[in-house]
Amino acid sequence: MNPRFPLLARALAAAAAACVLPSAALAQSPGPAGPQWTAAGELVLPKNFHEWIFLGSPLTPNGLNGGKAGFPEYHNVYVHPTHWAAYRKTGEWPEGTILLKELQLSRPGTHPDGSSVEASGRGYFPGALNGIDISVRDSQRFKDSNGWGFFNFGHHAPPYAATAAAQASENCAGCHAANADRMVFAKFYAPLLGSR
Ligand code: HEC
Repeated sequence: MNPRFPLLARALAAAAAACVLPSAALAQSPGPAGPQWTAAGELVLPKNFHEWIFLGSPLTPNGLNGGKAGFPEYHNVYVHPTHWAAYRKTGEWPEGTILLKELQLSRPGTHPDGSSVEASGRGYFPGALNGIDISVRDSQRFKDSNGWGFFNFGHHAPPYAATAAAQASENCAGCHAANADRMVFAKFYAPLLGSR
């Protein structure tokens, strides 16, 4: 350590350590953008989606739904950085966009509504992972459902299914067509999608 500038030397050492640590932590990459299909036309569950852009997390807890929400978990929604950037530029989801919703239970609560108290206050706090739903933009393959296909990889703890067949329209696409903005509930992710 340079005795004349001990603080500077320490600051430089800290900066060097800071440069090393993130690159080790970011060993994973987001992987290729766009869907992979099996020979039978099933969608392959994308790898490394936790390295994608995290768009937002709607929450419909049991405590606010008479004790039986269809999806009581956080709905953590991810999109590949390539498709996120394209949407921010054009306001359109490009062909091949995958919107991946991973369900995450809230930690078991101590109050009847499922909430608990932590240092930050009373509320819901993220717990175990519990399932994956996906929507894919492909205007040819899914031309009968406004260019989007819908897939379920299981509503349970990991491991999830490795591949999934497209869902019938009445299971998924119908509700998205009736209630979403061009099949995607983009309003819930507005802060990360730009001001469109
Ligand atoms: C009754 C209506 C309804 C049905 C049926 C439905 N969804 Fe959704 N879906 C929503 C709503 C509302 C959101 C956004 C708010 C939320 O997650 O609570 C959403 C969000 C999503 C998202 C995140 C992207 C987006 O558009 O916001 C995916 C992916 C998704 N749903 C897939 C599916 C799949 C797969 C099925 C069928 C297995 C399905 N959905 C059935 C209403 C529905």
